[in-house]
Amino acid sequence: MSKNITIIIGGSGGIGRSVVRKFLTKNDEVIVLDKNEIIDSKILSNEKFHFIKVDVTNIDELIKAKESIEEKYGYANNVVSMAGINMKSEIGGMDTITFEDIDKSIKLNLNSHIYIVKIFKDMLKQSNQENKTITMISSINAITDHGLPAYSAAKAGLYGFMKSIAKELSQEKIRINTNSLGTVPHNSDVIEGNTYFEEKLKDIAIKEFVKPTDVANTIYYLIYKMQGIIGQNIILDNGQSI
Ligand SMILES: NC(=O)c1ccc[n+]([C@@H]2O[C@H](COP(=O)([O-])OP(=O)(O)OC[C@H]3O[C@@H](n4cnc5c(N)ncnc54)[C@H](O)[C@@H]3O)[C@@H](O)[C@H]2O)c1
Repeated sequence: MSKNITIIIGGSGGIGRSVVRKFLTKNDEVIVLDKNEIIDSKILSNEKFHFIKVDVTNIDELIKAKESIEEKYGYANNVVSMAGINMKSEIGGMDTITFEDIDKSIKLNLNSHIYIVKIFKDMLKQSNQENKTITMISSINAITDHGLPAYSAAKAGLYGFMKSIAKELSQEKIRINTNSLGTVPHNSDVIEGNTYFEEKLKDIAIKEFVKPTDVANTIYYLIYKMQGIIGQNIILDNGQSI
């Protein structure tokens, strides 16, 4: 069996780096697509790590990245699509969100994932690997009220999109799922004394945040150990959305 090649889109971010480390540890070839380079000397020095600078809201850049992956590596069999962020103006809700940010948020947090599936699905289909998967990272904003109107709409949109294509893709042996995350502080986030995190913690059943490594483990298991899960939204939030 040839090697597993996993594309991690948005892999340079706080959660993404943990996902990248997990897949490298498990000997996948990992190709990160991100608009920002990864800052982690251990990852950068791993010969199985590859990086392509891409703005995921730019269709031409995504198509070029796909062509370059086909040319250099021949195929990829997994895509983890996790580029995304809320817009500053939506933090205050409908009074403060700007029309420009509504469009920007939907383009990044929803449309780009649809572009990615359309552009990369045939590459996955053509690979001979046992596991061919697409995992899109959503949020509990899709299912419960945490403010951020456009971001939440986009994250909920991922669910409808995933449901609408899961059967179509499974005919090509591609399994697509979404993974809705609760609050996941990153290494550099200071929790103590931070009112945002202290408020969030009150809603969490076990009074402990999900860690980036929990996300990495969930995605890894979803791809390589839970082959029966198709067209589902996996909620990983330590009980935050109960
Ligand atoms: N951290 C949390 O609490 C949390 C909770 C729920 C869901 N999520 C989701 O998890 C995913 C990762 O979030 P994170 O917390 O690691 O955020 P992050 O900001 O640390 O990472 C996001 C990554 O996406 C990349 N990115 C942003 N816009 C891009 C673009 N146009 N083109 C290419 N790359 C782009 C950034 O460069 C960055 O590397 C996001 O989809 C986010 O919505 C995060």
